[in-house]
Amino acid sequence: MAIASWIRTFPLVQYLIAWAQEIFMSVLKTGPVPQHVAFVMDGNRRFARRRKLEVREGHSAGFESLAHILEMCYQVGIKVVTVYAFSIENFKRPTVEVDALMEIARTKLLQIIHHGDLADRFGISIRVLGQRNMIPADVLAAIDKSTEMTKGNTTAILNICFPYTSRDDIATSMREVVTLSEKHELEPETIDEGMLEQHMYTKDCPPLDILVRTSGVERLSDFMLWQSHQDCTVEFVDCLWPEFEPWRFGLILLKWSRNKAIEFRKTEMERDQKEI
Ligand code: FPP
Ligand code: MG
Repeated sequence: MAIASWIRTFPLVQYLIAWAQEIFMSVLKTGPVPQHVAFVMDGNRRFARRRKLEVREGHSAGFESLAHILEMCYQVGIKVVTVYAFSIENFKRPTVEVDALMEIARTKLLQIIHHGDLADRFGISIRVLGQRNMIPADVLAAIDKSTEMTKGNTTAILNICFPYTSRDDIATSMREVVTLSEKHELEPETIDEGMLEQHMYTKDCPPLDILVRTSGVERLSDFMLWQSHQDCTVEFVDCLWPEFEPWRFGLILLKWSRNKAIEFRKTEMERDQKEI
């Protein structure tokens, strides 16, 4: 066990960390808070390799990290969190790894909807975005149960992209719009960006404010391509997803909040100058 992990096993250290986290979160809540954040949770296999663990254990550690980050997101008041849990491309990975990821999805989805767990504590409605027809029946049953049981929750949303790619999202939206046009339910001249957006998986979500990718790799890998518009901040973090601790995300939030406050003050000053 690494020294840092060993030190954390002491109750007093755990108490101090929780206390410091509370203070940090209170500070964060005093400034602007993003409405919608997304994560590319990259680096699980490298984490496993470096610690001589099975790939499956790397992904399980990735889920633990996700649970901590989600807790922080909803505690500071972020409304929507979108995570890249499985790309359509991931089906090309070894069967044993695909099966392990499916099993993690199945068991963890059922876990987070338990009374007193994440969805219940923060009033989260769970949505699974992507190609349902590629998902095995037992995993689909867990997805349907978790979405059905949480659909009445209105405080926050968790979008789990699974199996997803942005190009598929855009193509699916276009197909729906073309079908409506063929049925004469809309005029082709009325097709615009807004209409395509209304047929994407993220249709009723606020605009994406921050997109984070861990593991030092600087690309989007077909995730949130449409949603990462001009005002969206993209942050590439040089640490593996299972090592992405809440304080690291807290620093990203602080930076975003500070920039928003500066922008807001600048706009106000410009408006005041115009009025003089
Ligand atoms: C990318 O790291 C990670 C994934 C493909 C899977 C991410 C999934 C989880 C964290 C858990 C899923 C949770 C739910 C609720 C479904 P990688 O495998 O590409 O690692 P590498 O970049 O080191 O090769
Ligand atoms: Mg990767």
